Amino acid sequence: MNIFHTSAEFYPYIKMGGLSDMLASLAKEEAKNNKVMVALPMISGLQDQPKFTGKKFSCIHPNAVIGSESSFILRDSIFLEAKIGDVYLYFFDSPLFRNLNRIYENSNEHYSFALFSYACFHLSLELKADIVHCHDWHTAITSYFHSSSVDGLPTVFTIHNLAYQGTHPEHICGFLKGEPFYLNLDIMKHDGKINYMKSAISTATKVTTVSPTYRDEVLWEPQGCGLSFNLRKRGADFLGILNGIDEDEWNPDLDSRLIQNFNRTTISQGKLANKIALYDEIGRKIDPSRPLIGLVGRLTWQKGYKYFLEAFLENAELPFYYIFLGSGDPNLEGELFHYSHHFQDRIFFYKGYSEQFARRIEASSDFFLMPSLFEPCGLNQMYSHAYGAIPIVSRVGGLRDTIKEDLYDVENSTGLLFEPGSTTSLKAALTRAHELYENKEKIEKIRTRIFAQDWTWKTRLQEFTNLYQDAIKKKG
Ligand code: ADP
Ligand code: GLC
Repeated sequence: MNIFHTSAEFYPYIKMGGLSDMLASLAKEEAKNNKVMVALPMISGLQDQPKFTGKKFSCIHPNAVIGSESSFILRDSIFLEAKIGDVYLYFFDSPLFRNLNRIYENSNEHYSFALFSYACFHLSLELKADIVHCHDWHTAITSYFHSSSVDGLPTVFTIHNLAYQGTHPEHICGFLKGEPFYLNLDIMKHDGKINYMKSAISTATKVTTVSPTYRDEVLWEPQGCGLSFNLRKRGADFLGILNGIDEDEWNPDLDSRLIQNFNRTTISQGKLANKIALYDEIGRKIDPSRPLIGLVGRLTWQKGYKYFLEAFLENAELPFYYIFLGSGDPNLEGELFHYSHHFQDRIFFYKGYSEQFARRIEASSDFFLMPSLFEPCGLNQMYSHAYGAIPIVSRVGGLRDTIKEDLYDVENSTGLLFEPGSTTSLKAALTRAHELYENKEKIEKIRTRIFAQDWTWKTRLQEFTNLYQDAIKKKG
């Protein structure tokens, strides 16, 4: 099968969150048995250097009449082919993105992502894709183009986060009615605005999201973020398929960013060595026998860190040390800096983005905390399993699908669960985590158990293969 993905992020070139990792690992697994192509924007701030093949592709039909500014920009843009492993990449080299240091720092994104989506539509036809798989609102209208075109291809649209829909005032989206788009804006209208995501939810051949529980949650408000009705209308064409991870990328035995590699038999010594080295790296003299809780994530409302901060203040008697890596909301950053400065014997906060630090935290931590208020899938809890850190997570979305806690048979658990948005429940989970840490035999058993979990795509890829085949059949 010729599979064509479109996305704003793809690891290792552009990464702001889990979408980047998810797509890179999915594409890699699919490429074992398919021709896999991924189109993504070319920005100046690429985090890694692509290996270009020298081939170039146009972004609009060469014979198209160029009468609008949009067509003119598309004619002046080009796709540059590159390869990573067996996956073909198509970098959209355009004045719209070329000077960006970060992918989402463009105030004109309603325009730049619409043109990118058009270019992806054109390229997927040219490269004779069998199926076009679009990810999140940035590429949603690629699937709308396919559904409204006579030679349109079957599409799958995956929602990674319904909270970001790409909504824009109607008066700035008039260009979509003109050349070369000719879109009917009625399908895109929602709540007095133009909504890019809604166009794909309504028109893609199949719609998915990244975990079965999140799929069920968003069928109703408020989790549906205003689109639950539109999602319910899709019935059986809307599915939840759990994300997978790349076991070569996230493997403590191969990870060159760790101070000491470890495997199933050396897990405890390995984690301790990494913990000691990490305390040294951050310049804090902490007794390594104390339990360490790691936190890594975007500082947004979604992630529920407010409840962590409340529990942190109220649970001062527990001997945990916290290492927190993240950036985002300046108020949260300020609070975390404050605690990191005033409670140096309890918490260290590093503001920023660092792949290396994130992996070192996973490798060193005894527990990994994710207090999300909603979580479409979440990858960090799976990475935590891979690195032997016991996840403490809220019972929501993909976290609920991946972490089990058996209160009567702790050794059968793969983490600890608490209720989202409840400091009391979080505090109780932290108390249970402490009791667990005190019982060396039990903690060893759980560590070995989580280490053996398989969150790779191997077992779930078939779900996408079946879905692509169904979409192709449905489109006829
Ligand atoms: P989301 O996509 O909502 O941010 P996920 O759990 O799916 O949540 O994925 C987040 C990914 O981004 C993980 O790989 C995580 O390690 C990474 N990440 C988030 N913040 C940072 C950061 N400050 N530094 C390094 N990696 C980060
Ligand atoms: C989004 C979600 C996260 C998910 C990721 C990859 O960013 O917030 O839960 O894991 O996409 O699908």
